[in-house]
Amino acid sequence: MYTNTKLTLNPFTTKIIIAIDGHSSTGKSSFAKAIAQELNYIYVDTGAMYRAVTLYGLQHKLVSSDGQIEIEALMAVLPDIHISFQNIAGQNNTFLNRVNVEREIREIAVSQQVSAVSAIAGVRKHLVYLQQQMGKEKGIVMDGRDIGTVVFPQAELKIFMTADPRVRAERRYKELREKGSKVSFDEILNNVIQRDHDDETRSVAPLRKAEDAILLDNSNMIPEEQMAWFRRVIAGS
Ligand code: DC
Repeated sequence: MYTNTKLTLNPFTTKIIIAIDGHSSTGKSSFAKAIAQELNYIYVDTGAMYRAVTLYGLQHKLVSSDGQIEIEALMAVLPDIHISFQNIAGQNNTFLNRVNVEREIREIAVSQQVSAVSAIAGVRKHLVYLQQQMGKEKGIVMDGRDIGTVVFPQAELKIFMTADPRVRAERRYKELREKGSKVSFDEILNNVIQRDHDDETRSVAPLRKAEDAILLDNSNMIPEEQMAWFRRVIAGS
């Protein structure tokens, strides 16, 4: 079922770092959250951190909706951007300077600019440092694009998630249709393919599977099967 590094530690009794990376729309955050819950670990959504910086930039006119970024000014305010997470009624909520911005960071205005903001080396350096601080005590599940390669190359368990682009596009299509969007399947498929390309070819911290990461292709898996897979991994079987 899987190859590469096997876990020899028991994550229930020894706190470890679990790094989850992978392609967009593979369900990384749902899986990471479920794992954190199972092990009673902290869950950190690093995408939300890039989104929070983007939102701050938009609010302070350092990032504009047409893609212009005042890079130096944004660098100067990074120390003023405080990001934290809080679990409210079982949901992970992102706070920006003590304000709950969970809903705003998922809005289209942020989604459209976050890729450009996350490509700025200084932003990455700052957020990677904060992420490393969050993982100091271990007992953490972190998801993103560069967790196993850059943030925690020493993580005891690394999982790289992927799925067939058509399957991912179908999942996304269903979600958006249910929300009332009129978007076409082909548009979504093209967007999935474009995002893979952008993530894999960007010059700073491109998305790639760490050599010692376990590959999880969930094209034909439902969430319960994925958890069963994870339990086998941590049991070392
Ligand atoms: O996972 P997401 O869609 O919420 O991520 C938002 C953006 O941030 C996306 O463009 C990828 C980028 N990102 C990143 O560059 N590095 C991470 N560790 C997490 C997200």
